[in-house]
Amino acid sequence: MLEIQNAAAVITGGGGGIGLALAQYWVKNGGRVLLADIGQQFLTEAQKRLEQWSPMVRTMVCDVTDENDCSKMADFAIREFGAINLVAPFAGIIKDGLMVSPDGVTGKVTKKMSLDQFRSVLAINLTGVFLTVRECTERMINNNCKGLICLVSSTGSLGTAGQLNYSSSKAAISVFPKVLTAEFFRRGLADKIRCVAIAPGYVETAMVKKIPPAALQKIIEQVPIGRLVQPGEVACLVGELYRNESLAGEVYFIHGGLRLGSKG
Ligand SMILES: NC(=O)c1ccc[n+]([C@@H]2O[C@H](COP(=O)([O-])OP(=O)(O)OC[C@H]3O[C@@H](n4cnc5c(N)ncnc54)[C@H](O)[C@@H]3O)[C@@H](O)[C@H]2O)c1
Repeated sequence: MLEIQNAAAVITGGGGGIGLALAQYWVKNGGRVLLADIGQQFLTEAQKRLEQWSPMVRTMVCDVTDENDCSKMADFAIREFGAINLVAPFAGIIKDGLMVSPDGVTGKVTKKMSLDQFRSVLAINLTGVFLTVRECTERMINNNCKGLICLVSSTGSLGTAGQLNYSSSKAAISVFPKVLTAEFFRRGLADKIRCVAIAPGYVETAMVKKIPPAALQKIIEQVPIGRLVQPGEVACLVGELYRNESLAGEVYFIHGGLRLGSKG
């Protein structure tokens, strides 16, 4: 079992939502945290909040789609903490819409998902994760660190209407644990660096608050526990995945029993 006490975590998207909840969980359990986010203001507020539990909190503005930013982030973590033990690339966005929307009266397509709407989601949710994980893993190997890469997929990875961009990005993330675990095994690293993904359902964060209230109510009706998953509950799962060294190469769902897949 690994201990969180003193372990160093790099969390992207750490300025809010699930990333911030994980940071809070991590420092409360004695860990050290580098929070990276594109929003400076989110980071300043997050740092203030976290410093009530620990002085071992660092922040950095980082656009995860920028290779250079991701490289600097990994270097900064090593400089400040001498190690990276948890990589949590949680920066993510949604830009929902149907691929094509025919007009109700004419039957002709009047609206399409734009190329930017598709590309920008893939850039942050997939390429940004690749860059974060690649740069941090390089430093973990070169500095002889033990720990976990914990990605965030989604129940959307199974296919949610209106989310062709988001679902595609999250489906891609769900194969990372298998591929990376096999690569680490091939290089004799799998007992030191593990990779898993979590796949949350609907979690009460800013991302979900963007869903119109009537649509959100319909979603909650499909969740057997009768409510949204709380960010702190997701953070707890990450903590368990970190501690338990037999967990590797898999995607772990956390959704309160949600019916999965697109229902049209
Ligand atoms: N909330 C949910 O229901 C839910 C469900 C499944 C998966 N997820 C995933 O969990 C992760 C966190 O989601 P959340 O709900 O906490 O979202 P959130 O919107 O609360 O937080 C996301 C954070 O990412 C940051 N970010 C956006 N673009 C960035 C970039 N280019 N570089 C660096 N940071 C950037 C934002 O500033 C924000 O602080 C995402 O990957 C999301 O897809 C969320």
